[in-house]
Amino acid sequence: MCGIVGYLGPQSPKDIIVSGLKKLEYRGYDSAGVAILDHGKTKRVRAQGKLKALEDKLATEKFDGHIGIGHTRWATHGKPSERNAHPHQVRGISLVHNGIIENYLDIREELKAQGADITSDTDSELVAHLIANEVEVTKDLFKAVQNVLEKIRGAFSILVMWEQEPDRLVAFKDGPPLVVGMGKDEVFVASDVQALIQYTKHFVYLEDREVASIKGADVKFFSANGFPIQKKIVELNWNPEMVEKQGYAHFMLKEIYEQPRAVAAAIEPHVNPETFSVALKNVGFGGQSVQKLEELDAKADWAKTQEVFKSIERVFIIACGTSNYAGNVGKYLIEQLAKVPVECDIASEFRYRNPVIPAKSLVITISQSGETADTLAAIRMAKEMGATTLSICNVKNSTIDREAHGHLYMNSGPEIGVASTKAFTSTMAVLNTLAIAIARTRGVMSEAEEKELVKSLLAVPSQMEGVLSYDKYFEEAASSLKLFRGFLYMGRGTSFPIAMEGALKLKELAYMHAEGYAAGEMKHGPLALIDERMAIVMVAPTDHLYEKTISNLEEARARGGKVISIGTGDNEKLREISEHYLAIPKAHWTVNAILAVIPLQLMSYHLASNLGYDVDQPRNLAKSVTVE
Ligand code: F6R
Repeated sequence: MCGIVGYLGPQSPKDIIVSGLKKLEYRGYDSAGVAILDHGKTKRVRAQGKLKALEDKLATEKFDGHIGIGHTRWATHGKPSERNAHPHQVRGISLVHNGIIENYLDIREELKAQGADITSDTDSELVAHLIANEVEVTKDLFKAVQNVLEKIRGAFSILVMWEQEPDRLVAFKDGPPLVVGMGKDEVFVASDVQALIQYTKHFVYLEDREVASIKGADVKFFSANGFPIQKKIVELNWNPEMVEKQGYAHFMLKEIYEQPRAVAAAIEPHVNPETFSVALKNVGFGGQSVQKLEELDAKADWAKTQEVFKSIERVFIIACGTSNYAGNVGKYLIEQLAKVPVECDIASEFRYRNPVIPAKSLVITISQSGETADTLAAIRMAKEMGATTLSICNVKNSTIDREAHGHLYMNSGPEIGVASTKAFTSTMAVLNTLAIAIARTRGVMSEAEEKELVKSLLAVPSQMEGVLSYDKYFEEAASSLKLFRGFLYMGRGTSFPIAMEGALKLKELAYMHAEGYAAGEMKHGPLALIDERMAIVMVAPTDHLYEKTISNLEEARARGGKVISIGTGDNEKLREISEHYLAIPKAHWTVNAILAVIPLQLMSYHLASNLGYDVDQPRNLAKSVTVE
């Protein structure tokens, strides 16, 4: 949902801003722009389309300055075009914005009545006008921003500079994330640390309604009511290679291949490979800040976590999109292993349906980015209603991570492809450890069963390597998919969310219509769709529901549907009745989902890249959805 980068320091702002925007292009890619102060005058370059279009324009531009801001856009108000691209410029003020200004209609009317020259259709430009008006009175950019903060409502992160104060940047936010990167004699600002990791490892995360005033290399932070505040500088141990493609054609492909490592990293903190037991590490239900989690006394922390697990009567899992499908797998795991009732809901539905959340509930939110607006709203609501909250995030220190009572991490490393892959499988691995931990704590799982489950979980990374080594078969299957008019992905049990995830991957990458269905629902409607131009993608690993799944498959075949199936090992039956049979290794039902999704990810990947689509940045999407 738009990416922001700013720089103030001795290096070339253009180079730093463009390299930062490249790392943020996943947040939006319909237009981009930069503004740099060059000897007191703003030079602005904007272009519609991907960042490449801006880069081409910038190639012939020379800048001599040390302060600048840039933006990559995902349109909310006003269609993608150069005139709607950021930075917006009003009487010496340049501004970039991520998010939405809810009261923009009122502001627009007011500004129009004052005779303002509004040149775009965006809500963002209006904020630039407000600041330009204020700064004429205050003669101080920071004070002008403070006055404007009182006038705007919505979800926003904003970075602004002014020609009259050529050594100052002011950043503020209410909702979408903004970090300040602290360098030696230089300061950076960005929507996400990924943009800056090659320049600094030291970051300050702005909280809602806080303001950062950057003057030269001096950064001061202020609360909403203008009081100076001390902020902690967080050191991140990511390295710059983590955000490069490393020889893969696409980030998505790299991330698919990183999954064995990501899953191993997700379970490693919580699983003892000698005793085959689970003890969740550094969950922090004791109320420590996210930054202090590393310092926890492991024993005391685990005891506190167990206290929470013993006390709960109900679990809610809330998330959006792919994270929600991982949550659905978690529902099967926690309910079946730990015998606690679980509801899994889409965050945008949950928050507006006035859910009944009993006090002894554990509300688990899943979010790769940790910034998804609906999921964030859901966690805030759950807290207000007295529930204990637990976040599963990939991005540490993200807003959802910071706001939750307890914390678990996907540990996948940066996920840059807009379509989620490794965060999904890592989350399912974390949910396995969580379900075992709850079950053991509540005394409903024997030590022997725990050992069996942990062994099967520990085997998953190398089993995933095995599945990945069959990629050429997935590519072959993908080449036949373009012949079909539509796709029904189906499965039962944990294979049902995998079917939904498979269908989503096909939709978002290859722009083909696909639906994910519970196989048992087929007779209740979707069967009518089936003919020889409809492909059935059946997720049918050998588990307790296998026989029933096969019956559903036969029903589809009898009506002419062409079958692509995912099954366990050398399954002669499935091989015989399928156009393409894709095998995963024999595994416990609790981890089948992690293995079965890989062929589906790779099929969609190959199909989309063979069709020439932009796999890493599918049309109309953005990775971090910070508006509802
Ligand atoms: C699909 C995809 C999305 C995200 C969803 C939630 O491939 O990536 O459906 O899963 O937007 O995002 P997070 O997990 O960041 O809250």
